[in-house]
Parts: sequence; C-alpha cells; structure tokens
Amino acid sequence: MKDLLDDICHHVRPLIGQGRVANYIPALGRVNPDQFGIAIYSNNGDLYTAGDADQAFSIQSISKVFNLILAMQHCGEDIWQRVGQEPSGQPFNSLVQLEYEAGIPRNPFINAGALVISDINYAHIAAPQQAMRSFVRRLSGNSELHYDQAVADSEYETRARNAAMAYLMQSFGNFHNNVEDVLRYYFNNCSLRMSCIDLARAFSFLANGGYCRHSDTQILARGDTKKINALMATSGLYDEAGNFAYRVGLPGKSGVGGGIVAIVPGQFSVCVWSPELNEAGNSLAGMAALEMLSERIGWSIF
Ligand code: DON
Repeated sequence: MKDLLDDICHHVRPLIGQGRVANYIPALGRVNPDQFGIAIYSNNGDLYTAGDADQAFSIQSISKVFNLILAMQHCGEDIWQRVGQEPSGQPFNSLVQLEYEAGIPRNPFINAGALVISDINYAHIAAPQQAMRSFVRRLSGNSELHYDQAVADSEYETRARNAAMAYLMQSFGNFHNNVEDVLRYYFNNCSLRMSCIDLARAFSFLANGGYCRHSDTQILARGDTKKINALMATSGLYDEAGNFAYRVGLPGKSGVGGGIVAIVPGQFSVCVWSPELNEAGNSLAGMAALEMLSERIGWSIF
C-alpha cells in the first residue's frame, strides 16, 4: 500500500499549477499551493501515508459531516423536516434554489444546508463550539486540534453570501437562532486545522459500520453510517458529485482548503489534500489521486 501511495504522489504532483487556491476567503489564499498529501487508515488500524500527510490545513466543508453527525446524534430524524437529502446540481454557495424551495436547502452539505444544521446544533447542544472540537478530537485521536481564528475571522468579514442565505431562510421560518452567532459557529467549524492523517482517522468509523477503533466507541448505528455515506456519495462534492462518482466511485466530502475524504466501506478511509482547486471548488490533484487509487485497488461502491 505504501508503494501505491508513493506512486500516486509521484503521478499527481505535476498537476500542481493547473488549479487555483481558494481566495474568496482572504486568509485561505495565503497557503503554499505546492503541497500534496495522502493518508489511508484501514479497519485493522494500519496507517499508510505519503507526501505532506501530516501537514495541517483548513478542513472547511469537510466539517459539515461532523456537524451533521452531531445533529443526528442529538435530534435524530427530525432534522429532515428542515433540510433535504437530494443533490442540488448547483455550486456549494448558490442561493438560487432557496427561494423557489421555501427556504429548505436541498442537502446538509451545501452551505445553506450546513447553516441550517448549525442552527439546529446551536439550539440543541450545550456549549456547541467546545462540543464540536471535543467530538473531532475524540474521532481523530488528536487532542491538539484547534480552530484557526485568523481564517474564521476572515470568513466572518467576507460573510455576505452565507449571511444572505441564513437571513433568507430566517424569512421562511427555517432559521431560529441569532444569525450572526450561528455564522460564527459555522465559520469556526470550517476553520478547524487537521492533517490527512487526522482526517483519515476521524472518518474511519464510516468505513467500519459506525465503530471508531482507536477510541473504541460506536459513533453511529450501522444503519446511520449507511445514511451518511449515501449523502456523501450523492452530495459530498456538490455539482461535481456525478463526476466524482464516475471517476472515483466512493462516498466523499471535499473542502475549499483542498482536502477530500473518501470512504471504502468495510476496508478503509482515505484523505487527500492539495490546496489548488478546480472550477467546482474541489481539489484538482486530490480528485486525480482518488481516481488513481480506486482504479489501482480495483474497488468502488458501484
Ligand atoms: O462557507 C464557505 O464558503 C466555506 N467555509 C466552506 C466552503 C467549502 O469548503 C466548499 N467545499 N468545497
């Protein structure tokens, strides 16, 4: 496996230079683009890495999965009265469907959906910000994980689109707490800094029927694990979810920090990271790396 990961690293590094680092969040635009990392964590507890796998980066939308799991743990199926389960076919920060669809976002992974989930967690979890950080620390087994205040502040200062979505949902009665407070919670979650190794470990329970091996905890019931993986497979890469299914064929979740997590159910979790993005806002080298991985192991969910 280690040889395969080194090989993937070698093949995708030349793609660096063909994408663009996200700069709509000014503090994110300052990252060195010339980086690539990959980490695999198997259900047996084996870790394989290559490249910059231990370099921490801004997890951004990957945090939406942690946010959703906390909401499912606290509120169960009730959350689906306020957010859908369908792919949106629109960019992650699009507003256009929200008005047509009466303030109910299509799924929990587009920004509007993650904001509703944040609103739910804000109301139902005591000290939600600390609860999120402890949850992710426990999942990854890394007690040193931190929010990046500079990134969170930078995103708050340039929040117009996300704020517009939240206020529009409030006008439809689908946002219950103070919008500015919930935006802060959401941006802080997105600013969490984690490495490929941290993320591969943190997502391993989704490959293992809901069981997190290193913390010896059943995080989700097996059936709920299927639900999260299904949502990741259909909506985890926004309007590129179809192309990701075609090329990679695994449940996945991306972030504009350049990370992508993917799940091989029953076998392992994998995280790739390279900061330059393609047009859809997903890591360009990361997509190529996962495509090569699924081809070489000859496995996908399809
Ligand atoms: O709200 C935003 O725009 C960012 N904090 C997260 C967007 C993101 O990561 C989309 N992912 N590919």
